[in-house]
Amino acid sequence: MDFNEFHKWVHKELGINLSAYKPEQLNRRINSLMTRVGIKTLDEYSKSIKSNPEQRQKFLDFITINVTEFFRNPELFTDLEKQIANELLPNNSSLKIWSAACSIGCEPYSLGIILDKLAPNGRHNIIATDIDDTILSRARSGEYTENEMKGINNADLSKYFKVRDDKYYVESKIKNMVTFKKHDLILDRYDTGFDLIVCRNVVIYFNNDVKQEIYKKFSNSLKRGGLLFVGATESIYNYRDYGFEKASTFIYKKI
Ligand SMILES: C[S@@+](CC[C@H](N)C(=O)[O-])C[C@H]1O[C@@H](n2cnc3c(N)ncnc32)[C@H](O)[C@@H]1O
Repeated sequence: MDFNEFHKWVHKELGINLSAYKPEQLNRRINSLMTRVGIKTLDEYSKSIKSNPEQRQKFLDFITINVTEFFRNPELFTDLEKQIANELLPNNSSLKIWSAACSIGCEPYSLGIILDKLAPNGRHNIIATDIDDTILSRARSGEYTENEMKGINNADLSKYFKVRDDKYYVESKIKNMVTFKKHDLILDRYDTGFDLIVCRNVVIYFNNDVKQEIYKKFSNSLKRGGLLFVGATESIYNYRDYGFEKASTFIYKKI
């Protein structure tokens, strides 16, 4: 089996469309994972993924790369907070927000904390999605280790988290703003009517065609005047092609 055949096998067997990913980077990652688990060929690897649930989960976790943190790139979140206050809340007291590819939930909960500070009386709706079920159930639990709390300052820690047995739990008033759902950015249809879409550190793994398609769909999903917040390495150079104008370095506004 070569990489092409392996990608097809993964699509059929696990429902993940690897042709959307940048091939060199992806295949390098698969090779290094195989070395790590002591497997030499793709044939052997596919058999192992099929028969061994632990290998299957390891492969999925590895492919879906779920590194995240609260207020990732804090200076950009400060900027986002200003944009929400100046551009969105004056027109709308309750915001509909999508955290797309949300991993273990640090991103949507960070958004919930911002909204609680800026507009505590709004009936905000944060929809948080990811392709990975395991990750989503962790996100729903709202439970974090000390290590995962590094983006949270002391004031927010005491206001928005409970601590028990070295674990940190998101307070229910933030948790209740967020609905988690499984969603594949490549295969599934997109909801509409969003004031803000946050999609960070996932499109970097996709090839150019897929990325363009995703930006087009985000634009269709936003209300006029709505904002798209992207990752710190993900500037969109042809933002005008999708009907955006630049609101700030990593934030685009739908015209
Ligand atoms: C690096 S994390 C980014 C988390 C968060 N947005 C952040 O910036 O901290 C990437 C996430 O994308 C998810 N993902 C990968 N492929 C996806 C797809 N096709 N559709 C939806 N989510 C996907 C992974 O499961 C992972 O949780």
